[in-house]
Amino acid sequence: MRSNMFIMVILLCVLTLSSCQPKVDEQSKDILDDEKSNEAKSEGVVVKDTGWREFADQRNIHIGAAVQPQFLEEPDYAKTLIANYNTLTSENHMKWETIHPEQDRYDFTAGDKIVQFAQEHDMDVRGHALVWHIQNPTWLDDGDWTEDELWGILEDHIKTVVGHYKGEIYAWDVVNEMFENDQYRETIWYRNLGPSYIEQAFIWAREADPDVKLYLNDYSVEEINIKSNRMFELAVELLDKGIPLDGVGFQFHVINEQPLDMFSVYNNVKRFNDLGLEVDFTEIDVRIGQPILENDYIVQGEIYRELMALVIGMDKANNFTTWGMTDKYSWIPGFFTGYDESLPFDEFYQGKPAYDEILALLKDQTFMLDYEERINNLANTRSVLKAFDVALLEEAPLVDGDMAVGEYEGTVVHSFMYNQLGTTDTTHESSDISGTWRIGFKGSILYGVVERVDDITVNNHGTNYENDTVEVFYEHGTLFQQLRSVVGEGFEYPSDVYLQQAVWNDEGTMMEFAIEMPEEDLTGLEIGFNIALSDNDSSGSSREVQLYPFYGHNASWSGKDLGTMKFEGDTPRPNSKLRLTPPYDVVRRLAPNTINGIEDEFEWSEGIRMPLGYDQLNAFDQTLPERNDLSMSYNMTHIDGYLYGIIFRDDDVIEEGDRITVAFEVEGQWYIKEIVVGEDVEDDMLTMIWGAKSSVAEFSFKLKEQIELMNYSINTIDSDGGKIVHDLHPHYNYGKSYKEGNYVELEFGK
Ligand code: XIL
Repeated sequence: MRSNMFIMVILLCVLTLSSCQPKVDEQSKDILDDEKSNEAKSEGVVVKDTGWREFADQRNIHIGAAVQPQFLEEPDYAKTLIANYNTLTSENHMKWETIHPEQDRYDFTAGDKIVQFAQEHDMDVRGHALVWHIQNPTWLDDGDWTEDELWGILEDHIKTVVGHYKGEIYAWDVVNEMFENDQYRETIWYRNLGPSYIEQAFIWAREADPDVKLYLNDYSVEEINIKSNRMFELAVELLDKGIPLDGVGFQFHVINEQPLDMFSVYNNVKRFNDLGLEVDFTEIDVRIGQPILENDYIVQGEIYRELMALVIGMDKANNFTTWGMTDKYSWIPGFFTGYDESLPFDEFYQGKPAYDEILALLKDQTFMLDYEERINNLANTRSVLKAFDVALLEEAPLVDGDMAVGEYEGTVVHSFMYNQLGTTDTTHESSDISGTWRIGFKGSILYGVVERVDDITVNNHGTNYENDTVEVFYEHGTLFQQLRSVVGEGFEYPSDVYLQQAVWNDEGTMMEFAIEMPEEDLTGLEIGFNIALSDNDSSGSSREVQLYPFYGHNASWSGKDLGTMKFEGDTPRPNSKLRLTPPYDVVRRLAPNTINGIEDEFEWSEGIRMPLGYDQLNAFDQTLPERNDLSMSYNMTHIDGYLYGIIFRDDDVIEEGDRITVAFEVEGQWYIKEIVVGEDVEDDMLTMIWGAKSSVAEFSFKLKEQIELMNYSINTIDSDGGKIVHDLHPHYNYGKSYKEGNYVELEFGK
């Protein structure tokens, strides 16, 4: 199917005598745009009249598309809908500005057309959306309403619209996009009526139609994060109060280059399902960034497949709605510059790989969703690498910004090592900030100390997070908290219920903190945790550096990229989290690297430079040696089944005992190689070539096949005078070999 289209694109390119790649350059794009308005040119492309629908029907899945009534008259549009979908959503025409254009006038013409089309073709209709902050008419937005008037307007709108479609619409998005991050969005409703406008909207909708299903709907709530946590809290609150809430809609406006963490999506859907709520996938599209290459459609197909897999496999996720259906009429290019082609059907109504993936899955009678199994398997086989250690303290410390002797006895000094603001270089070699931290607990309280060394302290920047700060992030059950302390100040927004305290010394070099949890004794508890040290050197600009204990994407503020922390006390427990720290990215290059021991900066420019930030030789202090004594960093990329790396090792004196060890877990077997610094290696799998002065080495490692994740460890030993003095690793651990879990995970980019 797709080849037809490519032939056409190529023909069009030849016609204009330009050498263009299909769907990539501007010119061919323009031609395609012309194409949209010129039906004759797409003649010869056959639009199929069979598709997903019969298989979705068999599985009782609502497979839906957002539609606009004016397109329903286009035969190919109608034909594609009828063949594939059993449900329709009104993309725009049931929104307030269309359906309620003047205060005392409703206009159902366009909405009715959609309902009529659906009824003619035996489809269901999902209603979108009763209460929202945009696409409202100016009479409403600009009116100078008293609170009472606004309540009256809201009641009239909901009852009239729901009443009009009573029995014809099976589910309504009652309130759409009510949150901004984890706060209520400042809308006309919230500002004037307070948060109870939400409850009231549901109550009135229920009064107008006792049988219709009622939903909250929002975007960026698909994974477990601060926003979905907030939505979850609201859902619990509404259910507790007996408000008629039937489900939540996750919009799923996905970016092809930033696929979702599907474990997190699975767990998120599950927790809402466990409340008895339906989760509808209400506005799926997967937009691709330009230039669009053939492989992007494959990736897109996989993303669509994963989403359909959840809908098939989960009890209370039964609506899979795409936001539009054909790329010909998608909202994406108009709203997200540089993105397009987000839907399963291209502009000629031909199915893309996403279409095929969904069809194959719908047909596959043997398909079983296996997240639970995968989670259990991984958890059971994973040996225990600790993200960090939290020690049980003898006595509760005094939180006064000063570390008294013995107060933190038994805790480990951890490093702030990875600059997560540095996209291609996470080492912070050229910055002037450094710091360490340690944590312990006693009873229900987590205590910690941060020490920082900085030449300039900025704490008067107007945007709080742009200052020199310490931020603590933790995820406790379904609760996520970010606690920020600007140097010299306590935590912003501390809890009223639990102790959350940060105290600095006068110099701003030491901060002590205490965070209370609901448990009386934290022993045995497992939480997600992270901590960051930010540095800004001028209050007029943004912060330059934000250091974390491990690699990640500076996403901890949204509840992601946390490390697993166990309060072991005297009773160590097996790990049950899927991942202890986030995996380390290995970027895919377009061409292989030349392995010759000579740094070609261009060749490594796409990869990410990472430090060996922990000296695992010491149990209680893993901070690095002086830089001129020993330091090491590396950068890795991959392509075509090979991993490529460059190592930078700086050592004051190179001795015989100096080593680098790499270990890769390939198909359950560890490949391990101890390399003498300065000696080249060449075997079946590994090639390593050293450059001059033994400070740079390049290597390639054969991966056999394209894999997504690989366990990996790298370390270097420094001996001085015949004695081992340092053992640098990328992460925290002590006294364990790579086989016992002393490794990180590499994630290979697509
Ligand atoms: C979009 C429509 O697709 C566009 O045509 C319109 O111009 C703006 O709204 N979240 C929602 C949808 O809930 O209503 C939005 O739809 C997309 C984001």
